[in-house]
Amino acid sequence: MLTSRTPIVAGNWKMHLAWREAIDLVRAMRGPLNQCKKVEVILIPPFPALVTVAELVQPTAIRIGAQNCHWESKGAFTGEVSPSMLVGTCRYVLVGHSERRSLFGESDEVVRKKLAAILQHGLVPLLCVGENLAQREEGRTSEVVATQVAVALDGLSLSPERLVIAYEPVWAIGTGRACAPAAANSVCGLVIRGVLAELFGEQTAAAVRILYGGSVTAANARSYFEQADIDGALVGGASLQADSFIAITRAAQAVAG
Ligand code: PGA
Repeated sequence: MLTSRTPIVAGNWKMHLAWREAIDLVRAMRGPLNQCKKVEVILIPPFPALVTVAELVQPTAIRIGAQNCHWESKGAFTGEVSPSMLVGTCRYVLVGHSERRSLFGESDEVVRKKLAAILQHGLVPLLCVGENLAQREEGRTSEVVATQVAVALDGLSLSPERLVIAYEPVWAIGTGRACAPAAANSVCGLVIRGVLAELFGEQTAAAVRILYGGSVTAANARSYFEQADIDGALVGGASLQADSFIAITRAAQAVAG
């Protein structure tokens, strides 16, 4: 990493791993992950395993994230989890993941409400943005990503350590078709930091950590970490195996120097 921003490697387990499997995976990973002192490691388990995983990493520097939350702090919302329920267990909450947007109909406006609620409860939003294949082929990547960032952050005032953004091109998620590192870097730098600069000023734009996500593996991770505007990775499939997630985290540690 070419900057002073602490790199992040985050593992999004999605709807994988039953409680027992989650325990086994954390036990296999937590020692080696905790040795990578220059990297902030975040595990993002499904809700039933959240508290157990948080307890298992308690003696380490590993942080916990939630995959989703509602924007209200309590009420008649069967099946939902509020940000206030996550306080004390999590530091991070994913918001705007493309699977939530495309499969569960979350609009930019819903993302904005959730993000504001996450911040209000003292948690850190990990905001996901990215274009789909049709948008990319129409040459609309910059416009789509800039709009997603601008709408999600509309009306907020924030300090850079209270926000992490992940650029995840939808066509690269779970497909094995990762975005070329230089292309990902220019979306992170020119587009996302550009919008952040307009909203919050250059200093904040330069200090927010921006991750790449989409088919990151042990083999390609380093090429992202070497990019000037990419501060780490949001990892799906490769976070479900101890070996590959440890290798990705070690690659971030090596580049962090
Ligand atoms: P993937 O998922 O690494 O399996 O492509 C990334 C994500 O959805 O966050």
